[in-house]
Order: sequence, then C-alpha cells, then structure tokens
Amino acid sequence: MRVLGIETSCDETGVALYDTDKGLLSHRLYSQIKVHAEYGGVVPELASRDHVRKTLPLIQEVLDDCGLSKGDIDAVAYTAGPGLVGALMVGACSGRAMAYALGVPAVGVHHMEGHLLAPMLEDQPPEFPFVALLVSGGHTQLVEVDGIGQYKLLGESLDDAAGEAFDKAAKMLDLDYPGGPQVAKLAEQGDPERFTFPRPMTDRPGLDFSFSGLKTFTLNTVAAHKQADGLPDDQTCADIACAFQEAVVDTLVIKCRRALQQCNMKTLVIAGGVSANQRLREKLESALAKIGAKVFYARHEFCTDNGAMIAYAGAQRLLAEQGEALPVHVKPRWNL
Ligand code: KG4
Ligand code: ZN
Repeated sequence: MRVLGIETSCDETGVALYDTDKGLLSHRLYSQIKVHAEYGGVVPELASRDHVRKTLPLIQEVLDDCGLSKGDIDAVAYTAGPGLVGALMVGACSGRAMAYALGVPAVGVHHMEGHLLAPMLEDQPPEFPFVALLVSGGHTQLVEVDGIGQYKLLGESLDDAAGEAFDKAAKMLDLDYPGGPQVAKLAEQGDPERFTFPRPMTDRPGLDFSFSGLKTFTLNTVAAHKQADGLPDDQTCADIACAFQEAVVDTLVIKCRRALQQCNMKTLVIAGGVSANQRLREKLESALAKIGAKVFYARHEFCTDNGAMIAYAGAQRLLAEQGEALPVHVKPRWNL
C-alpha cells in the first residue's frame, strides 16, 4: 500500500510517499522560516497562505521523484491536529479532496503520533513497548507506548514546552527564529561552569515538567549582565545559552530515567524538534547506558516537522484498520 502523507500543521509543508512493503519512497519539505523570520515567530495567516502555494506542487514533485502518478496512491494521510487551524485546513482539505477524487481512504493523523513514530523510519527502529519523550515547540510529554494507538500519558509540561523555552531564550539573546538550533550552536562556545540554572521540578516525585521559571531565570541573568546595547557581551551570551541548555537537558534526562524506571522499561524514544539537540542525545545516551537502557531517535530532518512521519503513521493506522470516514475535521487542540 502506498500512502501519501501531508503535514501542514505549522510552518513547514511536508509531503511524502510511504510504501508499506518498500518503506519511504520519497519526501519533500518546504520550510517557511524566511516568511516568518522578520516577525520573530510564526504568523498563522501567512503560514496558511504559503501552505496553499506549496502543497500541490510538492505532491507532484514527490510523485515525479518515484516515477509514479496520482493513480498509484492507495491512501492519503494528513495531519489533522494539533496545530494552527488555517494551516491544518490546507492539508486536510487537500488530502481529503484528493482521496475522494481517487476513491481511496483518507486518514487524519495526530501530529504528535507522527513525531512519536518517526524513529520507526530508521534502519534500526525501536521495538514496542517503550517510553517516548515528545519534545517539540508545542509539547513536552512523556508517554508509555505499548503499540500503535496505545499511548498512556505519564507526564507533561504544566506551562511552556521545552522547544518554546528554547525559542524564548533565543529571543532574549537576540538570536534568530527558530531559536532552538541557534541556542544550541551558541552554547558550544559557552563555559558550562560560569552559571548554574535551576533544574525545575526534579527535586520532587512525578513526571511533569515546568519551564517557565527557567525562562524567567534566563531573563534575569541576561538583564543582570546587559551592556549599553541591551545585551550581555558575546561570551556572556554564550555562557547563558550553555547554562540554559544544560538545565533543560538535565531536567529532561532526569525525568526520562525516572519514567523508564517507573514503567520498568529499557527503551526510550525521543521525538519532536528538540530531539535534534545534540547535547540532549549525548547526555541521554550516557545516562541510559548506566541503567542498561537505550535511546532511539529519528535522523535530524525527521525530528522536526515532516511529511514522512505522517505518511508512516497514517499507514500504520490504516493497516490497523483505524482509518476514518469522509467528513473534514481538524483540531487546533487535541490530547494524545
Ligand atoms: O517538532 P517541531 O518541528 O515543531 C512542533 O511540532 O512544534 O519542533 C520545533 C521546535 C522549536 O521550538 C525549535 O526551536 C526546536 O524544536 N528545536 C530545537 C533544536 N532544533 C529544533 N531545540 C533545541 N535544539 C535543537 N537542535
Ligand atoms: Zn511538530
């Protein structure tokens, strides 16, 4: 079965074709970063308009890559939420209309399920059951995963998501949007001994997170060291980025280890934009090795939003006969 996947929940248009026998056939991603950069964040209306411009051409490119035509598509999967409602509508309407015209099934995929399953596209995928840490711009969640569609929320952020905290710290340091990769890059030049930031909610039991206090701590540190131009000197900015990243990473590592112990599991999957963070991967690998556990993640381009994860998740839902009927339905807010 060949499944076309369409992702338009935020600021990337992702399209992919996944074959349940042969694996991923082709994928394309168009990032709107340039459209939103001058505003310092995603402008929903501009995002929707850009998805309208890009979705159909990208579908054609993916088909051309494989030497296939629309008639070779057996099902269409699209992100049905959570995300920006106008942006979601573009993918949902395109996907539904195409499926209807082709007479094939359509399936609306939960964006975070797409992220969660993205590591399955790698050569050595994790096996069920596992604990997943979903860390994106909108979510920070620990989930017990027993199989496709069998998800139990173990803990989540009570305020900002980890990616959102990275983006806000980047703004305080006058770095470009999206901030996560910029903070990570600057942190490489930082002295990890200079500042110590708090590791929120790690001194009490439970698997929830809170990153808003860390944001305030960062803001106060920036303010305490600022110069005439409103910013600390370059080295201090790098030291702050480093201290911030270490605090977020340590907090995530502590909670992941705790979740594995609580579930009595040895496999951790990390997914979502922040799972691209090199420091997080390194620290998780060494912490988990000590308890005989292993961490799995997707290749960099499949950590952030993409069409391949939606095609894959849709294919798994259809194989499990969990596809759905025709009404167009998107959900800007949706619990996993
Ligand atoms: O999964 P994603 O592409 O979109 C959402 O579903 O939100 O995640 C985007 C988030 C942004 O907050 C971005 O700053 C963060 O992931 N991010 C990173 C890194 N790459 C992306 N955060 C830290 N380190 C990175 N290398
Ligand atoms: Zn995402």
